[in-house]
Amino acid sequence: MGGELPQETLDPEDWTQLRSLAHRAIDDGLDYLQQARQRPVWQPTPAEVAAQFHAPLPRAPQGAERAYQDFREQVMPWQMGNTHPRFWGWFMGNGTAFGAVGDFLAAIVNPNMGGGNHVGNLVENQVVDWCKQIVGLPRDSGGLLVSGASMANFVALAVARGARAGIDVRAAGVAALPRPLVFYASTEVHSCMQKAIELLGHGTQALCKLPVDAQYRFDLAALARAVGADRAAGRQPCAVIGSAGTINTGSVDDLDALADFCARERLWFHVDGAIGAVVAISPQHRHLVRGMERADSVALDLHKWLHIPFEAGCVIVRDRKAHHATFSLTPEYLAHAPRGLASGADWFSDYGLQLSRGFRALKVWLSFKEHGLDKYARLIDQNIAQAQRLGELVRAQPELELMAPVGLNIACFRYRGRGGTQQQLNARNEELLIRLHEGGVVAPSYTRLDGSYCLRAAIVNHRTRSADLELFVEQVLKTGRALEADAHA
Ligand SMILES: Cc1ncc(COP(=O)(O)O)c(C=O)c1O
Repeated sequence: MGGELPQETLDPEDWTQLRSLAHRAIDDGLDYLQQARQRPVWQPTPAEVAAQFHAPLPRAPQGAERAYQDFREQVMPWQMGNTHPRFWGWFMGNGTAFGAVGDFLAAIVNPNMGGGNHVGNLVENQVVDWCKQIVGLPRDSGGLLVSGASMANFVALAVARGARAGIDVRAAGVAALPRPLVFYASTEVHSCMQKAIELLGHGTQALCKLPVDAQYRFDLAALARAVGADRAAGRQPCAVIGSAGTINTGSVDDLDALADFCARERLWFHVDGAIGAVVAISPQHRHLVRGMERADSVALDLHKWLHIPFEAGCVIVRDRKAHHATFSLTPEYLAHAPRGLASGADWFSDYGLQLSRGFRALKVWLSFKEHGLDKYARLIDQNIAQAQRLGELVRAQPELELMAPVGLNIACFRYRGRGGTQQQLNARNEELLIRLHEGGVVAPSYTRLDGSYCLRAAIVNHRTRSADLELFVEQVLKTGRALEADAHA
């Protein structure tokens, strides 16, 4: 018979050595967060560092110590900057130190959250139940943690489509639909919704984007007209998507009115709460998202305003059976046993696209316990107040122009200086933003509102202080004036 079999493993040869490296990594990581304010918000990765990333496949080991040194030198210093107190780009959370510990611990126990009977399921179920309480949907709703709101919205629309199509779309496919389905949203809806509808096989044309009012909110009269016209033309209205916080300006649709409309018209009501669903935890501001609790489905993000380290989103679907029916598929190798490791009536893989899933629930579970939701609510209130303050600082400067009402925690404005054509102002502000980023002091992002290029600050930041907002306005004025001087030189 054969000789000795190989006995290799990936466990460290010297646990003491790895233990000391891991302790150092934790210390370096905590220093990194504690010293966030001392670094530039952003700086480009130098060419000589970027060149290191073209090294060939490492067949031979370099060891944990060298690999860690590579991380320290080549990766750690050149980050996006969203841990910094003056990062206000797009809509990103800062993360937290203990949340990072949660990610570490999740990787240590490393369960596969697709299915099976283990305690991780209890953790994720509890986190999903907490999310149901946040958005106000019943305890017996379906729910799942996902990578983020793009995936949460995709899952919700897939369930809506299956529940309202009137045929078995899973079996027959979209080509068998007797009438084309239509999904309604405002022009301010996030682009992920279009991607979802395209990937569900309905084509971009199935997303009917309707105008907004002066507050950037869904125009309900336009919605009623569109639904009527589509029915008359032989199309089948399927779902209405309300935004609890739009990406451009942070405006919140009138969710109560949308819920009334959907109930009257027997349409699925979905709320994209990526930005604002969690405002419901704030006693001071929860009225802004009233009506969300009447939705058929809600997408929310935990890696945005709750600062869970990326990635963490959640989808809640009121009709648990419809949710299950959209995704459940149990071949013999995934059958659920009555007892033992493979038991459990509900596996998370029955509620979404992924089979293998990470233990992202743990960092959420730990973080909610660490701080309590009241603290998160106060931080949301703090950011909303900071955005209002920023709006006031902008209004107080004749060279600046506020471009939209400050919605939730988002302020859009531009540098007007001594004025100019729309084209000149757009070009000036585009260049101004790049200079701000390259300056490394502040990092807002941008958008276009009615053709006007704007600087856009989404204050999703538990580290921002009032003085940072004053510094921001100073930087914009200084950079804008320098640009104008260059142009006139
Ligand atoms: C309103 C809205 N919906 C959906 C998304 C997509 O979320 P994610 O990036 O977590 O996939 C975003 C992202 O900023 C958003 O602002």
